[in-house]
Amino acid sequence: MNLIVYYSLKGNTKFVAKKIALNTESKLLELKYKNDFNYSRILEMIIGGAQALVHYKPQLQDYSIQNDKHDTIFIGTPVWAHGISPVIRSFLNSRDISVNKYALFSTYKASEGRSFSQMKKYLPEDKIIGQAGFQNVLQNKEKTEREVKDWLSAMNFPGKKINTAAKNNPKKAVNLN
Ligand SMILES: Cc1cc2nc3c(=O)[nH]c(=O)nc-3n(C[C@H](O)[C@H](O)[C@H](O)COP(=O)(O)O)c2cc1C
Repeated sequence: MNLIVYYSLKGNTKFVAKKIALNTESKLLELKYKNDFNYSRILEMIIGGAQALVHYKPQLQDYSIQNDKHDTIFIGTPVWAHGISPVIRSFLNSRDISVNKYALFSTYKASEGRSFSQMKKYLPEDKIIGQAGFQNVLQNKEKTEREVKDWLSAMNFPGKKINTAAKNNPKKAVNLN
């Protein structure tokens, strides 16, 4: 069983997280600010951007993770001020990172910026099995869905390879792993 940990203010990262869950055996864990992050669009950009720039690590609503129960942990963040969101920074800062493999994803409007290099500062490089950025997710749902599937197959998820005969006759599917 895998785990998908993510933060999403407007639903883009959540959309990707759910698509990953549909195509893998994963549980979803949505992280949230302990105190609401609820502002007008402009204040949201100013306050959120400032928090991200100064690497602020807010308190989060309670959650619990049993590291040893999960094979891969997917970690997803929206890009804020060219980097990761404060909520994901809090999560990464507090994790016991010895056990799992990690797959990183971010969603953004213009550029993935430093989202991956910032996440990697908290994780052992050899445990990271992949990373992918998704642009304007909710405006391009079908494209995003295809990109998610391509990314997962590049990482060998869900991990079952079938032989060619099985392509035309699924009943002949043989797990080659
Ligand atoms: C505070 C804030 C800062 C942002 N900064 C960037 C940025 O630097 N670069 C970018 O491409 N998009 C930026 N965005 C846009 C989001 O990354 C993008 O819309 C993302 O997909 C939102 O994910 P969500 O819907 O899961 O919250 C920013 C959005 C917010 C709210």
